[in-house]
Amino acid sequence: MISSTDEPLHVLDLPQLYQKPSGTDLVKALALLSLKPRTFGTTADVVKGPAVQPAGVTRYLTSIIASPLAWLDTDELREAIWDAAAARLSERSGRTAMPAMSRVFNIPTSSGEECTLTLHEPSITADNLGMKTWVSSYLLSRRLHTLESPPTLVPTASADSSASNPRKSLRVLELGAGTGLVGLSFAALQGKSATVHLTDLPEIVPNLAHNAALNVELLDRTGATVTTGVLDWSVTPSPLPTAEERFDVILAADPLYSPKHPKWLVDTISPWLSRGLDARVMVEMPLRDAYLPQVKEFRQRMGDLGLAVIEEGEEVGYDDWESADGGALAVTCWWSIWGWSEKV
Ligand SMILES: C[S@@+](CC[C@H](N)C(=O)[O-])C[C@H]1O[C@@H](n2cnc3c(N)ncnc32)[C@H](O)[C@@H]1O
Repeated sequence: MISSTDEPLHVLDLPQLYQKPSGTDLVKALALLSLKPRTFGTTADVVKGPAVQPAGVTRYLTSIIASPLAWLDTDELREAIWDAAAARLSERSGRTAMPAMSRVFNIPTSSGEECTLTLHEPSITADNLGMKTWVSSYLLSRRLHTLESPPTLVPTASADSSASNPRKSLRVLELGAGTGLVGLSFAALQGKSATVHLTDLPEIVPNLAHNAALNVELLDRTGATVTTGVLDWSVTPSPLPTAEERFDVILAADPLYSPKHPKWLVDTISPWLSRGLDARVMVEMPLRDAYLPQVKEFRQRMGDLGLAVIEEGEEVGYDDWESADGGALAVTCWWSIWGWSEKV
Protein backbone atom coordinates (compact mmCIF):
# COMPACT_ATOMS: atom_id res chain seq x y z
CA MET A 1 0.00 0.00 0.00
CA ILE A 2 1.49 3.35 -1.00
CA SER A 3 0.76 6.14 1.44
CA SER A 4 1.14 9.80 0.62
CA THR A 5 3.79 11.47 2.78
CA ASP A 6 6.42 14.18 2.34
CA GLU A 7 9.18 11.73 3.38
CA PRO A 8 10.61 9.76 0.46
CA LEU A 9 9.41 6.14 0.47
CA HIS A 10 11.75 3.16 0.56
CA VAL A 11 11.69 0.87 -2.47
CA LEU A 12 10.41 -1.91 -0.17
CA ASP A 13 7.30 0.22 0.47
CA LEU A 14 6.38 -0.27 -3.21
CA PRO A 15 4.37 -3.30 -4.38
CA GLN A 16 6.72 -6.30 -4.66
CA LEU A 17 6.45 -8.75 -7.54
CA TYR A 18 6.32 -11.83 -5.31
CA GLN A 19 3.04 -10.38 -3.95
CA LYS A 20 1.60 -10.43 -7.51
CA PRO A 21 0.35 -6.83 -7.21
CA SER A 22 -2.48 -5.58 -9.36
CA GLY A 23 -1.72 -3.70 -12.56
CA THR A 24 -3.13 -0.53 -11.03
CA ASP A 25 -0.77 -0.71 -8.06
CA LEU A 26 2.21 -1.22 -10.37
CA VAL A 27 1.18 1.70 -12.59
CA LYS A 28 0.86 3.93 -9.51
CA ALA A 29 4.26 2.83 -8.20
CA LEU A 30 5.89 3.52 -11.57
CA ALA A 31 4.29 6.97 -11.66
CA LEU A 32 5.85 7.69 -8.25
CA LEU A 33 9.24 6.72 -9.63
CA SER A 34 8.96 9.24 -12.45
CA LEU A 35 11.95 11.58 -12.38
CA LYS A 36 10.48 14.80 -13.71
CA PRO A 37 13.15 17.03 -15.22
CA ARG A 38 14.14 19.46 -12.54
CA THR A 39 12.35 22.76 -12.64
CA PHE A 40 14.58 25.60 -13.67
CA GLY A 41 14.69 28.15 -10.97
CA THR A 42 16.39 31.08 -9.41
CA THR A 43 16.48 29.40 -6.01
CA ALA A 44 17.51 25.87 -5.12
CA ASP A 45 14.38 25.27 -3.06
CA VAL A 46 12.13 25.03 -6.14
CA VAL A 47 13.71 21.65 -6.78
CA LYS A 48 11.80 18.81 -5.13
CA GLY A 49 13.51 15.61 -4.14
CA PRO A 50 12.44 12.16 -5.34
CA ALA A 51 9.27 10.53 -3.97
CA VAL A 52 11.20 7.30 -3.46
CA GLN A 53 14.73 6.90 -2.08
CA PRO A 54 17.07 5.97 -4.96
CA ALA A 55 18.61 2.91 -3.27
CA GLY A 56 17.36 -0.27 -4.95
CA VAL A 57 15.16 1.47 -7.52
CA THR A 58 17.18 0.35 -10.55
CA ARG A 59 16.97 -3.29 -9.41
CA TYR A 60 13.23 -2.89 -8.79
CA LEU A 61 12.70 -1.52 -12.31
CA THR A 62 14.81 -4.18 -14.02
CA SER A 63 12.97 -6.91 -12.12
CA ILE A 64 9.68 -5.59 -13.53
CA ILE A 65 11.09 -5.52 -17.07
CA ALA A 66 12.40 -9.08 -16.65
CA SER A 67 9.15 -10.42 -15.19
CA PRO A 68 6.51 -12.02 -17.47
CA LEU A 69 3.86 -10.37 -15.21
CA ALA A 70 1.87 -13.53 -15.88
CA TRP A 71 -0.79 -12.82 -13.23
CA LEU A 72 -2.01 -9.67 -15.02
CA ASP A 73 -5.15 -9.91 -17.12
CA THR A 74 -4.18 -8.44 -20.47
CA ASP A 75 -1.18 -8.05 -22.79
CA GLU A 76 -1.97 -4.32 -23.02
CA LEU A 77 -1.54 -3.91 -19.28
CA ARG A 78 1.71 -5.88 -19.28
CA GLU A 79 3.06 -3.78 -22.21
CA ALA A 80 2.10 -0.53 -20.48
CA ILE A 81 3.90 -1.58 -17.30
CA TRP A 82 7.05 -2.73 -19.12
CA ASP A 83 7.08 0.55 -21.11
CA ALA A 84 6.69 2.66 -17.97
CA ALA A 85 9.45 0.71 -16.19
CA ALA A 86 11.76 1.15 -19.20
CA ALA A 87 11.02 4.89 -19.28
CA ARG A 88 11.80 5.22 -15.53
CA LEU A 89 15.06 3.36 -16.11
CA SER A 90 16.11 5.60 -18.99
CA GLU A 91 15.30 8.73 -16.95
CA ARG A 92 17.83 7.46 -14.43
CA SER A 93 20.50 7.36 -17.13
CA GLY A 94 20.69 11.16 -17.07
CA ARG A 95 19.02 14.06 -18.86
CA THR A 96 20.43 13.08 -22.26
CA ALA A 97 18.63 9.74 -22.10
CA MET A 98 15.30 11.28 -21.16
CA PRO A 99 12.51 10.73 -23.62
CA ALA A 100 11.03 13.66 -25.55
CA MET A 101 8.91 15.89 -23.35
CA SER A 102 6.91 19.08 -23.27
CA ARG A 103 7.77 21.62 -20.60
CA VAL A 104 5.94 24.63 -19.30
CA PHE A 105 7.74 27.90 -18.54
CA ASN A 106 6.19 30.83 -16.69
CA ILE A 107 7.66 34.16 -17.72
CA PRO A 108 6.91 37.33 -15.72
CA THR A 109 5.43 40.32 -17.54
CA SER A 110 5.73 44.00 -16.61
CA SER A 111 2.13 43.97 -15.31
CA GLY A 112 3.15 41.50 -12.60
CA GLU A 113 1.33 38.61 -14.25
CA GLU A 114 2.99 35.67 -15.94
CA CYS A 115 2.68 34.33 -19.44
CA THR A 116 2.96 30.59 -19.93
CA LEU A 117 4.89 29.02 -22.77
CA THR A 118 4.92 25.33 -23.66
CA LEU A 119 8.04 24.00 -25.35
CA HIS A 120 8.62 20.61 -26.89
CA GLU A 121 12.07 19.14 -26.20
CA PRO A 122 12.94 16.09 -28.29
CA SER A 123 15.37 13.59 -26.84
CA ILE A 124 18.84 15.15 -27.03
CA THR A 125 22.28 13.93 -28.01
CA ALA A 126 25.64 15.67 -27.70
CA ASP A 127 25.41 17.10 -31.22
CA ASN A 128 21.93 18.62 -31.07
CA LEU A 129 22.11 20.75 -27.94
CA GLY A 130 19.37 23.03 -29.25
CA MET A 131 16.76 20.35 -28.49
CA LYS A 132 16.89 21.25 -24.80
CA THR A 133 16.13 24.52 -23.04
CA TRP A 134 19.19 25.79 -21.15
CA VAL A 135 19.20 27.68 -17.88
CA SER A 136 20.59 30.96 -19.21
CA SER A 137 17.71 31.21 -21.69
CA TYR A 138 15.29 30.81 -18.80
CA LEU A 139 17.04 33.53 -16.80
CA LEU A 140 17.20 35.89 -19.80
CA SER A 141 13.51 35.30 -20.55
CA ARG A 142 12.62 36.15 -16.95
CA ARG A 143 14.71 39.32 -17.22
CA LEU A 144 13.12 40.57 -20.45
CA HIS A 145 10.20 42.35 -18.75
CA THR A 146 12.59 44.46 -16.67
CA LEU A 147 14.27 45.87 -19.74
CA GLU A 148 13.30 49.41 -20.50
CA SER A 149 10.88 48.89 -23.26
CA PRO A 150 10.03 51.47 -25.33
CA PRO A 151 11.64 54.04 -25.32
CA THR A 152 15.00 52.23 -25.03
CA LEU A 153 13.73 49.68 -27.48
CA VAL A 154 12.14 52.22 -29.81
CA PRO A 155 12.95 50.95 -33.27
CA THR A 156 14.77 53.10 -35.77
CA ALA A 157 12.34 55.69 -37.17
CA SER A 158 10.87 54.55 -40.42
CA ALA A 159 10.20 56.60 -43.49
CA ASP A 160 6.44 56.07 -43.11
CA SER A 161 6.29 57.49 -39.57
CA SER A 162 3.08 59.40 -39.11
CA ALA A 163 0.59 60.18 -36.36
CA SER A 164 -1.36 57.00 -37.19
CA ASN A 165 1.76 54.88 -37.58
CA PRO A 166 4.33 56.51 -35.32
CA ARG A 167 6.69 53.51 -35.11
CA LYS A 168 7.43 50.53 -37.20
CA SER A 169 7.42 47.17 -35.56
CA LEU A 170 10.62 46.33 -33.70
CA ARG A 171 12.66 43.79 -35.70
CA VAL A 172 14.12 41.14 -33.40
CA LEU A 173 16.47 38.25 -34.25
CA GLU A 174 17.34 35.34 -31.97
CA LEU A 175 20.58 33.50 -32.77
CA GLY A 176 20.99 29.85 -31.71
CA ALA A 177 17.40 29.91 -30.45
CA GLY A 178 17.28 26.17 -29.60
CA THR A 179 13.77 25.50 -28.34
CA GLY A 180 12.95 29.22 -28.73
CA LEU A 181 12.27 30.25 -25.13
CA VAL A 182 13.94 33.68 -25.28
CA GLY A 183 12.54 34.79 -28.64
CA LEU A 184 9.04 33.46 -27.95
CA SER A 185 9.04 35.18 -24.54
CA PHE A 186 10.18 38.42 -26.16
CA ALA A 187 7.41 38.12 -28.75
CA ALA A 188 4.77 37.40 -26.10
CA LEU A 189 5.91 40.36 -23.99
CA GLN A 190 6.20 42.86 -26.83
CA GLY A 191 3.03 41.77 -28.63
CA LYS A 192 2.30 43.58 -31.83
CA SER A 193 5.14 46.04 -31.38
CA ALA A 194 7.68 43.37 -32.40
CA THR A 195 8.30 40.83 -35.12
CA VAL A 196 10.66 38.13 -33.91
CA HIS A 197 12.71 35.84 -36.15
CA LEU A 198 13.97 32.71 -34.36
CA THR A 199 16.99 31.05 -35.98
CA ASP A 200 19.26 28.07 -35.52
CA LEU A 201 20.97 25.28 -37.50
CA PRO A 202 18.89 23.29 -40.03
CA GLU A 203 18.44 20.26 -37.76
CA ILE A 204 17.08 22.41 -34.92
CA VAL A 205 14.67 24.61 -36.89
CA PRO A 206 11.82 22.06 -37.33
CA ASN A 207 11.38 21.77 -33.55
CA LEU A 208 11.75 25.54 -33.22
CA ALA A 209 8.92 26.02 -35.74
CA HIS A 210 6.89 23.37 -33.90
CA ASN A 211 7.34 25.34 -30.64
CA ALA A 212 6.23 28.59 -32.29
CA ALA A 213 3.11 26.74 -33.46
CA LEU A 214 2.55 25.20 -30.00
CA ASN A 215 2.26 28.71 -28.54
CA VAL A 216 0.11 30.17 -31.26
CA GLU A 217 -2.78 30.96 -28.90
CA LEU A 218 -0.58 33.10 -26.65
CA LEU A 219 1.13 34.76 -29.60
CA ASP A 220 -2.19 35.47 -31.35
CA ARG A 221 -3.64 36.91 -28.15
CA THR A 222 -0.74 39.32 -27.77
CA GLY A 223 -0.60 40.09 -31.50
CA ALA A 224 3.03 39.00 -31.80
CA THR A 225 4.54 37.95 -35.10
CA VAL A 226 7.07 35.10 -35.01
CA THR A 227 8.95 33.49 -37.87
CA THR A 228 11.62 30.78 -37.85
CA GLY A 229 14.49 29.96 -40.18
CA VAL A 230 18.02 28.71 -40.62
CA LEU A 231 20.86 31.07 -39.79
CA ASP A 232 24.27 29.41 -39.53
CA TRP A 233 26.86 31.66 -37.89
CA SER A 234 29.66 30.00 -39.84
CA VAL A 235 28.26 31.24 -43.15
CA THR A 236 28.73 34.86 -44.24
CA PRO A 237 25.41 36.15 -45.57
CA SER A 238 25.51 36.82 -49.27
CA PRO A 239 24.40 39.33 -50.34
CA LEU A 240 24.90 41.27 -47.10
CA PRO A 241 21.67 42.41 -45.42
CA THR A 242 20.39 45.84 -46.42
CA ALA A 243 19.68 48.50 -43.78
CA GLU A 244 15.96 47.49 -43.86
CA GLU A 245 16.78 43.83 -43.37
CA ARG A 246 18.88 44.42 -40.25
CA PHE A 247 17.45 43.91 -36.77
CA ASP A 248 16.87 46.39 -33.94
CA VAL A 249 17.46 43.74 -31.29
CA ILE A 250 19.57 40.57 -31.38
CA LEU A 251 19.08 37.95 -28.65
CA ALA A 252 21.29 34.97 -27.81
CA ALA A 253 21.40 32.59 -24.85
CA ASP A 254 24.17 30.09 -24.14
CA PRO A 255 25.79 30.49 -27.55
CA LEU A 256 29.50 29.84 -26.76
CA TYR A 257 30.74 26.28 -26.36
CA SER A 258 33.36 25.90 -29.08
CA PRO A 259 36.53 27.95 -29.72
CA LYS A 260 35.03 29.03 -33.07
CA HIS A 261 31.83 30.42 -31.56
CA PRO A 262 33.02 33.87 -30.35
CA LYS A 263 34.26 34.84 -33.83
CA TRP A 264 31.30 33.29 -35.66
CA LEU A 265 28.78 34.91 -33.34
CA VAL A 266 30.27 38.41 -33.51
CA ASP A 267 30.75 38.05 -37.28
CA THR A 268 27.01 37.24 -37.47
CA ILE A 269 25.95 40.10 -35.20
CA SER A 270 27.99 42.54 -37.31
CA PRO A 271 26.01 42.35 -40.59
CA TRP A 272 22.60 41.74 -38.98
CA LEU A 273 22.50 44.46 -36.28
CA SER A 274 20.91 47.76 -37.22
CA ARG A 275 23.33 50.68 -37.10
CA GLY A 276 20.91 52.89 -35.08
CA LEU A 277 22.07 54.03 -31.66
CA ASP A 278 18.98 52.29 -30.21
CA ALA A 279 20.06 48.91 -31.56
CA ARG A 280 20.68 46.37 -28.83
CA VAL A 281 22.29 42.95 -28.39
CA MET A 282 21.11 41.00 -25.33
CA VAL A 283 23.01 37.90 -24.38
CA GLU A 284 23.16 35.58 -21.41
CA MET A 285 25.57 32.71 -20.95
CA PRO A 286 26.71 30.38 -18.20
CA LEU A 287 30.19 31.08 -16.83
CA ARG A 288 31.38 27.49 -17.20
CA ASP A 289 35.10 27.19 -16.36
CA ALA A 290 35.92 25.43 -19.62
CA TYR A 291 34.43 28.22 -21.72
CA LEU A 292 35.66 31.32 -19.87
CA PRO A 293 38.24 32.02 -22.63
CA GLN A 294 35.38 32.10 -25.16
CA VAL A 295 33.43 34.58 -23.02
CA LYS A 296 36.53 36.79 -22.79
CA GLU A 297 37.08 36.58 -26.55
CA PHE A 298 33.42 37.42 -27.18
CA ARG A 299 33.72 40.59 -25.05
CA GLN A 300 36.90 41.56 -26.87
CA ARG A 301 35.42 41.02 -30.33
CA MET A 302 32.19 42.88 -29.49
CA GLY A 303 34.31 45.85 -28.34
CA ASP A 304 36.41 45.70 -31.51
CA LEU A 305 33.19 45.84 -33.54
CA GLY A 306 32.24 49.12 -31.85
CA LEU A 307 29.71 47.74 -29.37
CA ALA A 308 29.86 48.60 -25.66
CA VAL A 309 28.17 47.09 -22.62
CA ILE A 310 25.25 49.25 -21.47
CA GLU A 311 24.22 47.03 -18.58
CA GLU A 312 25.48 43.70 -17.27
CA GLY A 313 25.34 41.45 -14.26
CA GLU A 314 25.66 37.94 -12.94
CA GLU A 315 22.93 35.73 -11.54
CA VAL A 316 22.61 32.15 -10.42
CA GLY A 317 20.13 29.71 -11.87
CA TYR A 318 19.60 25.98 -11.47
CA ASP A 319 19.90 23.79 -14.52
CA ASP A 320 18.02 20.54 -14.86
CA TRP A 321 21.21 18.50 -14.86
CA GLU A 322 22.04 16.98 -11.52
CA SER A 323 25.25 17.78 -9.67
CA ALA A 324 27.46 14.89 -8.48
CA ASP A 325 25.60 14.73 -5.14
CA GLY A 326 22.23 14.50 -6.90
CA GLY A 327 21.19 18.05 -5.96
CA ALA A 328 20.25 20.92 -8.24
CA LEU A 329 23.15 22.19 -10.30
CA ALA A 330 23.80 25.87 -9.59
CA VAL A 331 25.04 27.76 -12.63
CA THR A 332 26.35 31.32 -12.53
CA CYS A 333 25.31 33.17 -15.67
CA TRP A 334 26.46 36.48 -17.10
CA TRP A 335 23.89 38.70 -18.83
CA SER A 336 24.76 41.77 -20.83
CA ILE A 337 23.08 44.38 -23.01
CA TRP A 338 25.16 46.00 -25.73
CA GLY A 339 24.71 49.06 -27.93
CA TRP A 340 26.85 50.90 -30.44
CA SER A 341 29.41 53.01 -28.62
CA GLU A 342 29.14 55.57 -31.42
CA LYS A 343 27.18 55.72 -34.66
CA VAL A 344 28.94 53.30 -36.96
C1 LIG B 1 23.58 25.42 -25.76
S1 LIG B 1 22.40 25.59 -27.03
C2 LIG B 1 21.42 26.97 -26.45
C3 LIG B 1 20.03 26.96 -27.03
C4 LIG B 1 19.10 28.03 -26.48
N1 LIG B 1 19.57 29.34 -26.83
C5 LIG B 1 18.97 27.91 -24.97
O1 LIG B 1 19.70 28.63 -24.26
O2 LIG B 1 18.15 27.11 -24.49
C6 LIG B 1 23.33 26.39 -28.33
C7 LIG B 1 22.54 26.63 -29.59
O3 LIG B 1 23.38 27.24 -30.57
C8 LIG B 1 23.13 26.62 -31.81
N2 LIG B 1 24.31 26.74 -32.69
C9 LIG B 1 25.52 26.18 -32.50
N3 LIG B 1 26.34 26.48 -33.53
C10 LIG B 1 25.61 27.24 -34.39
C11 LIG B 1 25.88 27.84 -35.65
N4 LIG B 1 27.05 27.67 -36.27
N5 LIG B 1 24.90 28.56 -36.23
C12 LIG B 1 23.70 28.70 -35.64
N6 LIG B 1 23.37 28.15 -34.45
C13 LIG B 1 24.31 27.42 -33.84
C14 LIG B 1 22.84 25.17 -31.45
O4 LIG B 1 22.16 24.48 -32.48
C15 LIG B 1 22.01 25.35 -30.20
O5 LIG B 1 20.65 25.50 -30.48
